[in-house]
Amino acid sequence: MPVLIRENDWVLETAHTAYAFGVTPGGLLVHTYWGARLTRAEDYPTPADLASWASFSGASHGMQEEYPAYAGTKYTEPCLKTTFADGVRDTVLRFAGAEILEGDKPVVRVTLRDAYYPLEILVCYRMHEQHDLVERWVEVKNTGDTALNLERVFTALWHLPWGGQYRLSYVYGRWFDEWQLHREPLQAGVKALESRRITTSHQSNPWFTLDRGSADERQGEVWFGVLAWSGNWKLLAEVTDTNLTGVAIGVNDWDFTWRLQPGETFATPSSLAGYTQGGFGAASRTLHDYARSILPHGLKPHPVLYNSWEAVFYDVSESSQIAVAERAAQMGVELFVMDDGWFHRRDIDNAGLGDWWPDEKKFPNGLQPLIKRVNELGMGFGLWVEPEMVNTDSELYRAHPDWIIHFPTRDRTEMRNQHILNLGRADVQEYLIDLLDKLLSAHNIVFIKWDMNRNASEPGWPEAPGDQRELWVRYVHGVYRVWKTLAQRHPQILWQSCSGGGGRVDLGMLQMVDQYWVSDNTEATARLGIQEGFSQAYPAITMESQVTHMGSPLLPLTFRFHVSMLGVLGMSVDLLQWSEEEMAVGAEQISLYKVIRPLVQFGDQYRLLGAQGRTYSAWEYVSKDRSEAVLFAFRTHVREPAHTPPVYLQGLAPTANYTVEGYDEVRSGQAWMNIGLRIRLGNFESTVRRIKRV
Ligand code: DGJ
Repeated sequence: MPVLIRENDWVLETAHTAYAFGVTPGGLLVHTYWGARLTRAEDYPTPADLASWASFSGASHGMQEEYPAYAGTKYTEPCLKTTFADGVRDTVLRFAGAEILEGDKPVVRVTLRDAYYPLEILVCYRMHEQHDLVERWVEVKNTGDTALNLERVFTALWHLPWGGQYRLSYVYGRWFDEWQLHREPLQAGVKALESRRITTSHQSNPWFTLDRGSADERQGEVWFGVLAWSGNWKLLAEVTDTNLTGVAIGVNDWDFTWRLQPGETFATPSSLAGYTQGGFGAASRTLHDYARSILPHGLKPHPVLYNSWEAVFYDVSESSQIAVAERAAQMGVELFVMDDGWFHRRDIDNAGLGDWWPDEKKFPNGLQPLIKRVNELGMGFGLWVEPEMVNTDSELYRAHPDWIIHFPTRDRTEMRNQHILNLGRADVQEYLIDLLDKLLSAHNIVFIKWDMNRNASEPGWPEAPGDQRELWVRYVHGVYRVWKTLAQRHPQILWQSCSGGGGRVDLGMLQMVDQYWVSDNTEATARLGIQEGFSQAYPAITMESQVTHMGSPLLPLTFRFHVSMLGVLGMSVDLLQWSEEEMAVGAEQISLYKVIRPLVQFGDQYRLLGAQGRTYSAWEYVSKDRSEAVLFAFRTHVREPAHTPPVYLQGLAPTANYTVEGYDEVRSGQAWMNIGLRIRLGNFESTVRRIKRV
């Protein structure tokens, strides 16, 4: 339970951490503590007001307000910026009350009110005690009778302990090269990361980690967090002139204004954050555990899948797909997914998007014969769709050219020959729900890959109900509504979020999806680094990874399989071209994967030797009861003479005894973790070793 330490002064204690905040005598809601759980509740600091320090910055400028609004003489990054109907542009928030909502995951709800205008903010904190996480969001309510404009309404400002020198870790990249890890010391001023693209983006991800500069995978204080939002977002990591460090995170305020009508409430998405002394590895595992706990289908093993895209691109047909399905089933594939190319007039990327019914030439008898055969072969059937998109050459566009995001006086920029439907519009949402519901009701479909292959341009909405700039948020609400409605009506479907690879990976998506497509880059050596970046915040059970034709023919098939076995194993290769020998290797690796799958998908993941910037990498997955583990090691190209580094296992029970495949001796967990293994591999070789408690 949250503890009320003193009047209007709370501490949220999780299994190992504490997060404290309270109200100052002056009525400001301020942060007081975030770190290891203290043994005596009375030791948590008391909220205090500060005196003005100089005539250039007011008192609250140097205070760690939990939800600062732009007001008065405060010049650091606020969470809230409003303009009232009379043009007043500062917001004076004062404490007005609080309540604790008890339950499994208790919530503390603090009410702040503007000193003059009828504006109320609920600052909400949910405790995830067992997951060692605190969740925050706010609800902004216009309690008056005139509309006002919200120009920034972030979710939270996470304050770090005062006076530290922090290092920020984040991911950055681009399409085909997502998830590159960066670590840099925070300097005075503001470091901004964001998406302005309408999706989460390939460039960066709403995840952060801060440490004091010396944490590593195994040890060190780390403060970390995520934002559960699938559209434009912003993260501002600020070091102020009074040496306070904080991370503000929320819906992006760039090109944003929300007209808050009388009686209306704007609820922000949630941000979850945590603290650990176990380094980056423990921070990731905390997020992994939490993500797994909210998966729509719970802890159900995710199937080994085949996907047609990298195999034949748009060239799918009833007979060719049946032939491939027979080969896939023979190898042990459990789910057969037909990607792009199956629907009305979809021969290349310039037509068909929007017309979600089977192409009459490729599937003259509809999809039923293929699905029937796939099911007879013992596999589930999955399909690709891209509901938010439309080609100019489509029945949908011809009927509704104004359903796309556009400015009437500007060119409608095409990317990959397609436009974005305005999912902020209720009629577009209804159309998609209806059409896709029919498709899903008429077929035995157990998996949908939901793709999204371009970013926004000319972000206009001529008939917008409020300010046109609400588009960025209303669009995401629309996506959530369509997707959730379909997911509720078709609970058997496992959904994958894809946006040309990893363009829409975030915790918000986990309301609907159980797995992500992480990158279109499936070249195995590049993939090792990409997967390492992804794993910082997201668990292996959500990481679909496929063996494809990409990359050097020198790269052994087993290496490519091993890389994909680090997540949810899949294949996207033209199996009709595979030799019997390749089929046998594939079948053997799939059957090995099925044995180790519970460890990979449900176990604790340890990045023993990261792949980014290294030519020798190693991963380990340990069962929750520590009775079993699996070790993966990969060597890319190392010039000779090469000295491969030792691999120190992690996560084993120190006093229990274990065997490691390939070694004769039995050793204690402590010994395996401290002595280290030297696994000799040649260039482009890999190995998978099972570890067992004896
Ligand atoms: C982009 C995705 O990332 C690919 O996997 C594939 O589904 C194509 N779109 C299909 O157009």
